[in-house]
Amino acid sequence: MAQLRVLFATSEAYPVIKTGGLADISHALPYTLQSLGVDARILLPGYKTVIEQLRLKPLKENLQLFDCLPPIRILEGMMLGGDIPVYVIDCPMLYHRDGGPYQDEEGEDWQDNHLRFGLLSKVAALFGEHLFNFTPNIIHCNDWQTGLAPAYLHFSKYAKAKTMMSVHNLAHQGVFGAEAVDLLHLPKESFSMYGLEYYGLMSFLKAGLYYSDWITTVSPTYAREIQTPNYGYGLYDLLNNNQHRLTGILNGINEQEWNPETDTHLISNYTHTNFSSKAKNTRALRQRLGLESPKQTPLIGMITRLTHQKGIDLVVPIIPHIINEGAQLVLLGSGDKDLEERLQILADEYVGYLSVNFGYDEELAHQIESSADIFLMPSRFEPCGLNQMYSMRYGTVPIVRNTGGLADTVVDITPRHLDTGTATGFIFEREDAYELLRCVQQALVTYRDKATWRQLRTNGMLKDFSWQHSAQSYIELYENLIQQEQEQEILLN
Ligand code: ADP
Ligand code: GLC
Repeated sequence: MAQLRVLFATSEAYPVIKTGGLADISHALPYTLQSLGVDARILLPGYKTVIEQLRLKPLKENLQLFDCLPPIRILEGMMLGGDIPVYVIDCPMLYHRDGGPYQDEEGEDWQDNHLRFGLLSKVAALFGEHLFNFTPNIIHCNDWQTGLAPAYLHFSKYAKAKTMMSVHNLAHQGVFGAEAVDLLHLPKESFSMYGLEYYGLMSFLKAGLYYSDWITTVSPTYAREIQTPNYGYGLYDLLNNNQHRLTGILNGINEQEWNPETDTHLISNYTHTNFSSKAKNTRALRQRLGLESPKQTPLIGMITRLTHQKGIDLVVPIIPHIINEGAQLVLLGSGDKDLEERLQILADEYVGYLSVNFGYDEELAHQIESSADIFLMPSRFEPCGLNQMYSMRYGTVPIVRNTGGLADTVVDITPRHLDTGTATGFIFEREDAYELLRCVQQALVTYRDKATWRQLRTNGMLKDFSWQHSAQSYIELYENLIQQEQEQEILLN
């Protein structure tokens, strides 16, 4: 089979632009694919920070793509660290501004997101028409921001690549007014129930799901969940009808970045054989954040976007109980201002026992993972989730809700799992603060049982969360798509 050439089209990629797990995946997966012999490259919008951090040179200039935009350029270079080729869309009118990739500094969605990501999708599709010197046979699209690429290629006479649409979060769909169809040069016929129309509006994600050759999502459980009304965000029927081309593949983690043995953000590195070194991190973090150091008081960590998805509103009402039960809590997060306020009020009341840190802080994230005894992730839904895996790798025992990738990666502390030496954490069922509190109480009781706790930590630290296996699953899907195409061509000739 010809060499696989994959363009990984994404709206964020670590280390140059990150708001969440998508960025981690957009670096780690292409990187692992490369190590397995795939020519994987990344396509990113030219946000100000991306252009500032990368050394880029023009690949193509003066490309006039949409009437309402000036001509754009496509730049090429290598990702920071020099490991993966990257293409960047240079369109200062759309991307050269302060604020985040999706929202302004006040947290409001950019008004021209349909153009910003319509352009990203369009350029991805042009790569799929083999217009440039890199000629991918797969365009791997990620989330709604790249959802129009499969639609453009579906309607193009020059399409040469197959498309894969990966869903990292079905709750975000990129839904805009119908006038965007014309503006983004999509054919009128695409605006149909059997296309990208969504209750009279146009949906980027629906376009991706409908027109792509294959759909993946980031865990097997989430792949099943999104076919049900509870988790399907209005698209469960479409997903259910297309289950024959939908696969759940669990994300891995970047094992170089997240390794307690070598992590340069830590005060003290450690392995599963020297937990006393882990404790040095805990002492240092407590000191740094002004937390008391009482004996036998476990530190519970949380690193999260403050949104409904993450279930942080289930945690807020039980914080006083958790502290009364003899635990401390450290939280790092950003997002919902109302939640920030409620957390700050509690932090002012429980000085020395609750530390809340707002904003984005990569170093603090690593220090919390290494310092905490327990990690809390009570998500309402979690397509995959990375922090529970980072936690296990760092000997920090996770408490998670039974959903999505959390269910697929954490093994609950049942008597059977303890007997078989497989238990790695605590799982609760319902979106309910009381049930969460009961689970935290169970963890606090178990924490006092030193032998069991050591076993839980060790089991987690020894688990394999590497990308190798999952990257191999993507390669198989890519190869199947290319083979299907070749078989079709033979039939047609
Ligand atoms: P999601 O992508 O839904 O936010 P994931 O668990 O997949 O959830 O990934 C979140 C990623 O973002 C992790 O790498 C986590 O450490 C990081 N992260 C989230 N919030 C912060 C923050 N405030 N500061 C630093 N890193 C954060
Ligand atoms: C999304 C999901 C998260 C997943 C990440 C990477 O942000 O919310 O669960 O781990 O994408 O796939």
